Amino acid sequence: MERFIVCITGASGSIYGIKTVQEISSRFNVSLVVSEGAYTVMEKELGISREDFREKIPDNVEIFYEDQIDAPVASGSRFSNVRGVVVAPCSMGTLGAVANGVSSNLVHRVVDVALKERKKVCLLVREMPYSLIHIENMRKFTLAGGIIMPASPGFYHRPETLEDLVNFVVGKLLDLFDIEHYLYERWRENED
Ligand SMILES: Cc1cc2nc3c(=O)[nH]c(=O)nc-3n(C[C@H](O)[C@H](O)[C@H](O)COP(=O)(O)O)c2cc1C
Repeated sequence: MERFIVCITGASGSIYGIKTVQEISSRFNVSLVVSEGAYTVMEKELGISREDFREKIPDNVEIFYEDQIDAPVASGSRFSNVRGVVVAPCSMGTLGAVANGVSSNLVHRVVDVALKERKKVCLLVREMPYSLIHIENMRKFTLAGGIIMPASPGFYHRPETLEDLVNFVVGKLLDLFDIEHYLYERWRENED
C-alpha cells in the first residue's frame, strides 16, 4: 500500500487535518505528524485533549510528535512509496521554516525531504491577512516545487453546515493527489 504523510500544525483549522486522515486511512498507510502548536490549538478550538485526539484518529494511523526526528518519515530512504505529503493546516511559522530550509522539527523535516525527493507536497496555509513575508515564503515554496493551497472554501456548492465547508476544502486537497472522494459536489456535476 502506498504511504501518505499528513502533518497538523498550530494554525486554526486542525479539523482539516483530522478529516483528511479519516478520509484516506483505509486506502493508504498514513503517517501523521503533529506539532506542539497543533495540540494547543486543538485544545482551544475543538476542546479536545491529546487523548481525545488519539480517539478521533483511526487505529491503523501512526502518530508522531514534532520532536521525533528519528522517525522513519524523517528519511528520504523511506519515501519511495510516498504518494504525497500535506500540512493541513499549515501555520505561517511552519511555512517560513520550510520555505527557507530550516528543519527544526519533524514537520519541517518531512516537508524538506518531500521537496528534495520531488514528491508532491501541499501546504494548506491559514492566516489573514498575509504579510509580505508570508507571501514571499509562499512564492519561495512554490518555486521549490511545493503547492500552496489556501484554506478558503468556496460557496458555490451551497454549503449548509460547517462539515460541508470542511469537506469542500479537504476534497480539493484530495483532488490534487488524484484521490477519489465524494466530499463535495463538483461544479455542474449532475449535468454531465
Ligand atoms: C488558537 C490559536 C490559533 C492560531 N491560529 C493560527 C493561524 O491561523 N495561523 C498561524 O499561522 N498561526 C496561528 N496560531 C499561532 C501558531 O500556533 C504559532 O505560531 C505556533 O508557534 C506555530 O507552530 P507550528 O507551526 O510548529 O505548529 C494560532 C495559535 C493559537 C493558540
